[in-house]
Parts: sequence; structure tokens; C-alpha cells
Amino acid sequence: MRVLVTGGAGYIGSHTVLSLLSAGHDVVVADSYANSKPSVVGRLEDLSGRAVPAHAIDLTDAAATDRLFATEQLDAVIHFAALKAVGESVVKPLEYYRNNLDSTFSLAAAMQNHGVTRFVFSSSATVYGEKAPVPYREEYEHLSATSPYGQSKVMIERVLADVAQVTDGWKVALLRYFNPVGAHESGQLGEDPQGVPNNLMPYLAQVAVGRRDHLTVFGDDYPTADGTCERDYIHVMDLAEGHVAALEHLDVMSEPVRPFNLGTGSGTSVLELLRSFERAVGRELPYVVGPRRAGDLPAFWADATRARKELGWAATRTLDEMCADTWRWQSQNPQGFPDA
Ligand code: UD1
Repeated sequence: MRVLVTGGAGYIGSHTVLSLLSAGHDVVVADSYANSKPSVVGRLEDLSGRAVPAHAIDLTDAAATDRLFATEQLDAVIHFAALKAVGESVVKPLEYYRNNLDSTFSLAAAMQNHGVTRFVFSSSATVYGEKAPVPYREEYEHLSATSPYGQSKVMIERVLADVAQVTDGWKVALLRYFNPVGAHESGQLGEDPQGVPNNLMPYLAQVAVGRRDHLTVFGDDYPTADGTCERDYIHVMDLAEGHVAALEHLDVMSEPVRPFNLGTGSGTSVLELLRSFERAVGRELPYVVGPRRAGDLPAFWADATRARKELGWAATRTLDEMCADTWRWQSQNPQGFPDA
């Protein structure tokens, strides 16, 4: 298939581009480079040995999005492009709702206009909200999220479901990611957050490489085995392969729209992840225990049964591999991707 990957220069998008190319698909990247660098595309071409056509485009511009569909013959869309910083979304809700929803509206309209019917959406485990029982299962219906970022994912899932119900041939996979970490095994592709990282793994990687003094563990008095929060960390290459599996499943999918958890099915505490990262780096890393971070849940992980049964996909890479691959990327690229 010829697949439009929006946000294809971003963290998960770029790794998915590589998996798509390895699986024999053609890829067209669309990215605004608001939170990524154009140099990523060159890395993708080097790693794959293939040309990767890339369009610098803001998908909230519906006319520009439609023109893109007019120039490229597309069979499917995988939609990653979005604003994604949870804390920032609380401060700038309008910007988050407008950007994340408008870009989806533009894409959906262009798809309808040009007869493209296959859509894979980058959703998040955050849609399960605070009250869902753990492990999270796709059948849970009372979706809600505490941040505007998360709520934009809940809303988009709903929009896509409503459109898919009434648009001939539409097939939509809603992929609910747990905590993506790790990097491509080459060390040439990885997560490159702008500014101070919000998430645990990139923060830890920057401590290890000397860009930050120490890690602050946000609370060690949670009702978990070691008192720190537990999350379902998933290797970004497993996640990328999950997108290929979902894309290839769409034509036989039983319903027009279907959510799938992409996680490993087990939880890891902050301290366990720290210890694994220390093994990868080969030395102890400085940390202090601080107060809880507002909005953090004690522990959640995926029930990953549906993806295994229906997509024939399961995560295979271990926590130690996630850490070793992150460290290879960070140590080889201490300042992330080059600007040009
Ligand atoms: C968050 C988002 C999620 C998003 C994900 C991206 C919510 C509630 N969370 O998940 O939507 O998809 O990022 O990976 O919307 N921690 C520390 N010190 C740090 C940073 C984090 O101790 O400096 C702890 C946190 O308290 C948490 C764990 O590490 O227990 C993971 O945090 P993080 O990587 O930010 O991911 P989530 O908050 O789970």
C-alpha cells in the first residue's frame, strides 16, 4: 500500500515509516516540523535505502491537505501528527483541541473527497481515564481523560467512529498506546524532545548523557510493590510493527472502527526502569525522590489479548532492550537530531 504517514518525522511516526518500508509498503511523509526536524527524513532514507517523499504541511490547513491527496495516490493514512505534551495542554487547551481536532477533520474530509478508506489513528491509553479497571480492556466504554491532550484523543476516536459508520468502505483502527520508549537498534533514530523532557525515559537518558543533573522520581508512596508508579512500557519498534499489523488487518476487520491496545501486558515501576537503564549505561545514575506529580495514576497496563488474537501482533522486546536501545541512540546523538 502507499501510506500517508502524518507526523512521520516524529518519534513514533519515524519508526513506523521504517517498519512500513521493511514490510514492502510505500510511504509519503507529511509533517509540519513543529516538534520534529527535517533531518529525520534523511536518516530514514539512509536506514531504508529508499527515497522517502516528504511534504512540509500543517494539516489544520484543509485546502493544503486536500491538495496533498490530489498529488499523491494514497491507499491509507496513519495519523500521528498532533500536539502531545500533557502539561502544556492544560495551559493551552484551545490550541490543543484546535490543532488535534482540525488536523483530523482535514484528513477525514480529504479521504472522503479522494476515496481513501483506510485509517490508523494514534490514540492513547490515557482515554481510559481514572476509573477504568486495570488491566485496561478495549471493551471499557466510559472513556474520559484528565487533560485536554487526552480528551482530544477521546473526541477524535468518537469523530472517527461516527464518520466510519456512514462512509462506505471506511475501516479505522484506533491504536491505544501505553508508554512508548526505546529507539531503533541502529542508534540513528530515537526520541528527541524539544526543551525539558516531560516523560521518564527521555529525561533519564538526558541525565545519563550529562544534559540533566539528576532524575526526580515523582513519589514513592504509591500503593505499589516499591511505592513508585507502574506503567506498561513498550518498545517503539514493537509499536511500529503493531501499526503495520493494524494496517494490514483493516480490509478483513469485522467492524468499521475498532480500538486495539498496544502494550506488553505488564507493568514496570519507575525504580525498575531506572535499574534497567543503569544496567544499559553500566553505572549508577543520580536520582532524588520528590513529591507526586499531579494527575499521575498509581499503576496501569494493557490487556493485550485483542491485538494478539485479531492482529496477530504481540510485543516481544524486553525492558533491558528498551533501555539499551535508548542509550545507544542518546549516547550517539547527545543533542538529538541535527538541525539541518
Ligand atoms: C504520559 C501521558 C500519556 C502519554 C505518555 C507518553 C497522561 C496521564 N500521561 O504518560 O498520555 O501517552 O506520557 O509516553 O496523559 N516520572 C518520574 N520522573 C520524571 C518523569 C516521570 O518519576 O521525571 C514517572 C511518572 O510519575 C510516571 C512514570 O514516570 O509514574 C511515567 O511517566 P511519563 O513517562 O511521563 O508517562 P505517563 O505519565 O505514564
